[in-house]
Amino acid sequence: MSTRRPILAANWKMHKTTGEALAFVEKFAPLVAEAGEVDIVLAPPFTALDRVGRAIGGSRVALAAQNVNPAEQGAYTGEISSAMLVDVGCSYTIVGHSERRALYGETDAFIAAKAASLLSAGIRPIVCVGETLEEREAGRLEEVVGGQLAGSLAEVGSDRVDDLVVAYEPVWAIGTGRTATPEMAQQVHAFIRARLCDRFGDGGRGIRIQYGGSVKPDNIAELMAQPDIDGGLVGGAGLDPESFARIVLFHARES
Ligand code: 13P
Repeated sequence: MSTRRPILAANWKMHKTTGEALAFVEKFAPLVAEAGEVDIVLAPPFTALDRVGRAIGGSRVALAAQNVNPAEQGAYTGEISSAMLVDVGCSYTIVGHSERRALYGETDAFIAAKAASLLSAGIRPIVCVGETLEEREAGRLEEVVGGQLAGSLAEVGSDRVDDLVVAYEPVWAIGTGRTATPEMAQQVHAFIRARLCDRFGDGGRGIRIQYGGSVKPDNIAELMAQPDIDGGLVGGAGLDPESFARIVLFHARES
């Protein structure tokens, strides 16, 4: 375990109507009311942000969006700005998820602009990086993950490291039930940590790095036991209130 404050986030992707989202919160909030020193984050789809934000208002659960457009405002049909996310109470936002990189052609430069826009609006970006199986097997892991990191963080100043979260999500482990072993994940997290320290100096040691990819109640504790794994970005297992609560309460089963 590191001394960095753990951060467990549920990325709901394109799941849950407003009613389903509120039903989740109603069950989930009491289950984690007594959670210890952890940050708890829910990332509903845009349509549920406002209602979920109101439902968790005043609780210890924070709100995140899953995407943002870096422009301030203007003719960008279908897009949402950082100011709009502030307006509904977001304190975090996921950018650069591999699904957006792969399905919507998002580049590192675009992701860097998103992170910069969020930071100037006072929202903490969760910047995702991760390699495909093909890239890993071709021995290109460090080139790919290192390149994504350098590109996506290009506009983050050293004075903002405290507001930055990085998520390592190996693409081959997302939604496949195939988790990286804690040792495999740690190896990449240590590499990411070294790159963050090259880029930000000592400040890099304080940046939280989440692992994502088939995180479940049964594997979170061993992942969190690794020195450079500071949290989880959870897809499937974050859709069910009891399962996500068990992930948030991973400490409870540690001793
Ligand atoms: P799964 O937990 O469903 O593998 O998804 C991980 C993910 O992509 C979270 O952003």
